[in-house]
Amino acid sequence: MLRAKIIGTGSCLPPKIVTNDDLSKLVDTNDEWIRERTGIQERRVSDAATATSDLGVVAAEKALAKAKVSPEEIELILVCTCSPDMLFPSTACIIQDKLNAKNAAAFDLSAACSGFNFGLTTAASFIESGKYKKILLVGADTLTKYLDWTDRGTCILFGDGAGAVVLETTDKNEGVLASLIRAEGNLGNTLTMPGGGSRDPEEKNGRFIKMNGKEVFKFAVRALETSIKDIIKLAGKEIGDIDLFIPHQANIRIIDHVSKKLGISKEKVFVNLQKYGNTSAASVPIALDEAYREGKIKSGDLLVLSGFGAGLTYGANIIRW
Ligand code: COA
Repeated sequence: MLRAKIIGTGSCLPPKIVTNDDLSKLVDTNDEWIRERTGIQERRVSDAATATSDLGVVAAEKALAKAKVSPEEIELILVCTCSPDMLFPSTACIIQDKLNAKNAAAFDLSAACSGFNFGLTTAASFIESGKYKKILLVGADTLTKYLDWTDRGTCILFGDGAGAVVLETTDKNEGVLASLIRAEGNLGNTLTMPGGGSRDPEEKNGRFIKMNGKEVFKFAVRALETSIKDIIKLAGKEIGDIDLFIPHQANIRIIDHVSKKLGISKEKVFVNLQKYGNTSAASVPIALDEAYREGKIKSGDLLVLSGFGAGLTYGANIIRW
């Protein structure tokens, strides 16, 4: 059986740091409230000249260099984003052009903060079917461009960034062992960006993220718990078999609540949301890249990646590194 193995990771964060104290000058909030209620201390914000593909291409170049794979060898570029450079061409085609990856097919995948887990599931399926042997998978978002900086319920949560992985075929029992992706479109109105699409091309409803924080929080806790339990079961494993959990980095209370409930110790859960906030589709691949570079992932380790987000959607992948 063919499997998809990650052979290189990379990430890119814009340099500008915005702290909680900075935000307290824009809205009625404070560092203590944000830290206590979310765990976030600061986030990165891209400048006006930087679009999602600019971050994505840097992450991609790093992942390709790590994998020692040239852009020409890539057969598919899959970019998970809900903040594309423009409606079309896809951000994947823009990145293909910047990389000069001329032999690759390229398309975007829209599953918001679940994007990377949806993308990994999709990429793994292409590899398992034998269709492609080398895929570049990017998770990139610049949601700070879609924040209402007068809404303290949303502007404190998000940051910009990109993460990327190169996947290659293996016939060994390693790489992506199992995947799951799910959607609950009936809850879609709890987290939306209504303006700019074909329903509202003139953005009469605004061009900002709108969220029912309490409802999304409840969903997130349920989705994270369910995705972890189900992916482990699907792979025939136990919680105790997992070496590292890399959940979507949205809110430390969501992660702590689920870890406690499932009996997962803190050392086994990778967290970097204090530095970057919620970077949407980029959060899991940035965390994966950092965990790897910090020496927290060794060959043979079992990892669970999981994500949840607008749609509403959630998904998970289990990987033998
Ligand atoms: N600073 C200070 N006070 C704030 C605040 C802020 N940034 N945001 C809300 N508050 C206030 C509220 O107005 C409310 O005040 P009140 O009691 O006087 O009405 C109080 O704090 C509690 O608000 P509440 O909405 O119950 O807070 P919360 O504990 O649910 O936290 C979120 C709000 C947004 C942090 C939380 O709901 C959340 O993280 N939801 C999930 C969001 C998410 O992860 N989305 C992305 C998914 S991919």
